[in-house]
Amino acid sequence: MKLWHIVLAISISLTSPIVQAAERLLTIGGAVTEIVYALGKGNEVIANDITSVYPEAALKLPKVGYMRTLSAEGLVSTNASMIIAEAGAGPRNVLDQVRGAGIKVVQLTDGSHTPQQVAADIRTIGKELNAANTEKLASQYEAAWKNAEDKLAALQGHPRVLFIMNNSGRGAQVAGDETAANAVIKLARGENVMAGQYKGYRPLTVEALVAAAPDVIVTTREGLEASGGLQNFLKTPGISMTPAGKAGRIISMDTQYLLGFTPRLPEAVTELAHAIRKP
Ligand code: HEM
Repeated sequence: MKLWHIVLAISISLTSPIVQAAERLLTIGGAVTEIVYALGKGNEVIANDITSVYPEAALKLPKVGYMRTLSAEGLVSTNASMIIAEAGAGPRNVLDQVRGAGIKVVQLTDGSHTPQQVAADIRTIGKELNAANTEKLASQYEAAWKNAEDKLAALQGHPRVLFIMNNSGRGAQVAGDETAANAVIKLARGENVMAGQYKGYRPLTVEALVAAAPDVIVTTREGLEASGGLQNFLKTPGISMTPAGKAGRIISMDTQYLLGFTPRLPEAVTELAHAIRKP
């Protein structure tokens, strides 16, 4: 080897940046998936779960089932090098088993359903993946939320809202405290008619529905489709006896967009706030 070959080799090795090896990422939870793509790391994702419906590229990847009912075999069989999971993903022992099998598992810890949670999630995931645009994305999101919040503050009234979830095959469930639905209703400056009564979800009963007397009922697009469309939904026992049912004030929105606490939260809350105020 000639001297100039050696000099060239040394100077190339000194000037070339340290390239980080790409991960084989498994993203669990629609918000995690969305953030990973927004950080420009979508090309490193090899699989995700069934709540990962956005962006469209995420839909085409292999699925490991539902984020709340994961199985260790399903996760390990993807051959992922890193799993990033939402705070609500589990069961916990399954994620521990996968860690035991030597796969790096990063689980977000903040499940508070706040706009600030989304910014924190962007920063946590961005740091894990060494994404160059992390701070840009986080501050863009924060500015979008601030802008939405200022406009929401000018809206009149607090419509009385009942939220019905029907995605799980367990029948219609109504959102109480400490749910994502309760949080988005409050952010949209509505009042959850079930607030202060119970935590989580409870099956819909005619008595509770009639007593709650919501002005507007919010549900998911997927749930409305599962119940056979709006006309069938309106036939759900009790609904026609509420002010919302009588006036046909039923709103449906995409589950992940509305409840996922993703970077699209400012748009989702703004859309909900206007929809619940439509006469
Ligand atoms: C395999 C079918 C499914 C089952 C068995 C299921 C089950 C459940 C259960 C039990 C809860 C309530 C958790 C709690 O009480 O804290 C829940 C909440 C939720 N599910 Fe599912 N689900 C299914 C499919 C889906 C799909 C396909 C999506 C999204 C595209 C989804 C999105 C959500 C969201 C966003 C919540 C939180 C709602 C809130 O806190 O307001 N689920 N699910």
